Amino acid sequence: MDLSIIGSGYVGLVTGACFADVGHNVICVDNDLRKVEALQAGKVPIFEPGLEEVIHRNVSAHRLSFTGSVQEAVNNSQIVFIAVPTPQQPNGDVDLSFIEKVAREIAGVLTDYRVIVDKSTVPVKTGEKVAESIKRYNRHGAKFDVVSNPEFLREGCAIADLMHPDRIVIGAQSEHAIDLMKKVYEPFMAPILVTDINSAELIKHAANSFLALKISYINAVSAICEASGANVEKVADGIGMDRRIGRNFLNAGIGYGGSCFPKDIAAFITISEQLGVPFNLLKEVQQINGAQKERFLKTIRETLWVLREKKIAVWGLTFKPDTDDIRSSVAIDLVADMLREGAQVTAYDPKGMEKAREVKAIAGVKFASSAIEATEGAEALIIATEWTEFANVDLSVIKEKMTTPIIFDGRNMFNPETMGQLGFRYHSIGRSSVTPR
Ligand code: UDX
Repeated sequence: MDLSIIGSGYVGLVTGACFADVGHNVICVDNDLRKVEALQAGKVPIFEPGLEEVIHRNVSAHRLSFTGSVQEAVNNSQIVFIAVPTPQQPNGDVDLSFIEKVAREIAGVLTDYRVIVDKSTVPVKTGEKVAESIKRYNRHGAKFDVVSNPEFLREGCAIADLMHPDRIVIGAQSEHAIDLMKKVYEPFMAPILVTDINSAELIKHAANSFLALKISYINAVSAICEASGANVEKVADGIGMDRRIGRNFLNAGIGYGGSCFPKDIAAFITISEQLGVPFNLLKEVQQINGAQKERFLKTIRETLWVLREKKIAVWGLTFKPDTDDIRSSVAIDLVADMLREGAQVTAYDPKGMEKAREVKAIAGVKFASSAIEATEGAEALIIATEWTEFANVDLSVIKEKMTTPIIFDGRNMFNPETMGQLGFRYHSIGRSSVTPR
């Protein structure tokens, strides 16, 4: 099929690449012409495992192209996907101005029937507004249908998530649009759930909120584990073995971050309030998430006593491994907090340092060129993101490099007993701390 995607960010680019990879002809659009030129020259602006190969393969096969022109995209595709950002406004509301602008632009160049699909995460009832807007600016009176088709990919494993989705949600009114959408997804051989537009929009916010709730739940349990001497990993295993609960997303840590969960939970709270049915449970989810970082900092302060002038190594700056994304990363917040208290922080991240260098809140941080180098002379090591690379570091070398071998592991990467045997003072999340044997 001939498809176009407006917005070449994480979701747009990965979706476009995967659609092309299963045989569709795809035009990806962006209003940032520098980005378009870079993509045309074969440069991929984000790090996502496997993405570059998929893009190159499909550009070479002439199934994937890039343009700055919405008109070119709309003219040459049966289905137009919208994948532009929907950022959070200071009051928690979702900023839908990019969606509205794209809807107007599409309407202005619409001459024949098209299906307009919203892939961005939007508040329930946005589809209605998009349809109204297109109708208003539809100069040629062309027929169209609006569809909601939320995207559930995770950064770091976006290609696999897109190629093998748990489900495809299609929210639509028209049978014709549903048939076309089913054809788009036929090659993915995934279960398809067809709903009305409002339900499809709600599914995305409800799914992300539930996942965040699961993380906050285990994080709250981790505090109880620490206070009682239980082990949160074992507790998570024990409850996760119940198939009604499941073990996924029960990893305790320093809290969730990223470009989705914090924004989507805030949005869902605001939406529920605007609809007159406040979803207060989600406020507790947010509160627990913030408290988790504070509890971790408290342990660091209690152990090191004073942070001023302390040399602290930090492993990991991205909000999760296998991405270069540092948006709403708890790791960055932690570094900023410690710098404010006068600590001398040296950080290392396999992919996130380029973007981290531009963050003003952590301007005083030094960057190391390897995980080992970061620990040179350090009085403590903080693990903030669970990159596999860290699991493979020779810990005996780290112990030699550090002035005082103290580790605060915010992602439970290591076994406490082993760490004690290796001579570390080791603090983790929801597990008893160990001192060197
Ligand atoms: C999320 C959703 O998973 C995805 O379906 C949606 O499309 C976009 O938002 P993403 O933000 O890319 O994806 O990453 P995800 O793997 O969900 O992790 C989000 C945050 O939760 C990370 O900071 C991660 O470290 C944290 N997390 C995740 C935990 O702390 N514990 C867990 O068990 C799982």
